[in-house]
Amino acid sequence: MGWSTGFTPTGIRADRVLRDPDGIAALVTQLGDGKWHAGPELAHRLGVSRSAVWKKMRTLEAMGLGLKRDRMCGYRLPAGARLLSRERIQAGLRLPAKWRETDIEVLPIVDSTNDRLLRNPSGTALRVCLAEYQTKGRGRRGRSWWGAYGASLLLSWGVRFTVAPPDLQALGLVSALAATRALARAGFPPPGIKWPNDLVYGHAKLGGILVELSGEAGGPLWCVAGLGLNVDAASCRPLATGMAPISLESVAPDVPRDRNVLAPILIEEWLQAVDIFQLHGFRPFQEHFRDFDALWNQPVVLFEQTGTRNGWARGVRSDGALWFETAPGIREALVAGEVSIRFKA
Ligand code: BTN
Repeated sequence: MGWSTGFTPTGIRADRVLRDPDGIAALVTQLGDGKWHAGPELAHRLGVSRSAVWKKMRTLEAMGLGLKRDRMCGYRLPAGARLLSRERIQAGLRLPAKWRETDIEVLPIVDSTNDRLLRNPSGTALRVCLAEYQTKGRGRRGRSWWGAYGASLLLSWGVRFTVAPPDLQALGLVSALAATRALARAGFPPPGIKWPNDLVYGHAKLGGILVELSGEAGGPLWCVAGLGLNVDAASCRPLATGMAPISLESVAPDVPRDRNVLAPILIEEWLQAVDIFQLHGFRPFQEHFRDFDALWNQPVVLFEQTGTRNGWARGVRSDGALWFETAPGIREALVAGEVSIRFKA
């Protein structure tokens, strides 16, 4: 479901989170040990009133933190929030020399990691931004994207291309491929890719990618790719497209889901893919994509401005466009961004 009204499921405005991101983050840190904490103790430690703590607790609940309350014991987070650590992510990264300057930022709360990178193009060729929570997370086609605090990966890469790579519209597909490789490396069953940007298990959505560009025609391009991935089940909410959400937790409950391990793998795989893509476009990925193409030879429904059409997905072209077949032998190439495609029920 899109929270485009700014209201979270419990009716608290998302902006309230942004009014005091540091206070919210400090509270989560206090609760991060998974133990019970009494309201007065928290108020004392944070230097705020008890009613301020109470209000923040309501905000935490709205952010999907799964807070437990007990009249005698106070508040606690079930397993203790395993929070992102910039140091651990940095320490786990093995980057080739050309990307060593990469600026990695880890934030507790941000409006959108994509927006943050779009607002501040980097001095270096590459910048990465991760957050525990987004108040205005965005998906494709004007939809919103929500993830419970600390329960998903909200990760954006910003890269400067001095010359626009061939097949630039296929960067979402290439990013999705990098994510499947990363998840496989981390021990998860690799998800399928539903053209152009969804990571899926069966017909259920694990995550998605949003690619956005800024720059002048003919000049250098600042290109931001953002990945939203449901890590814990707490991040799964109904989606506006009607697709069921799914998480790594529900698909592989026994595989460790340490986001500080997953993030460096995702970053490395993405950079490797982008290095190739920058020079050669989508063609080197076309064959590999076939192995993960969740729409391959599937009956699908195409949503256009003018209405819907039924057909079959017949794989992707060497530039990343999707072959859509309406009748035997009659097919057209669809370009990402212009259309939306769904599994036929
Ligand atoms: C989609 O499936 O429509 C794409 C979802 C992309 C969500 C990610 S979360 C990190 C980054 N920041 C955003 O605001 N959006 C992307």
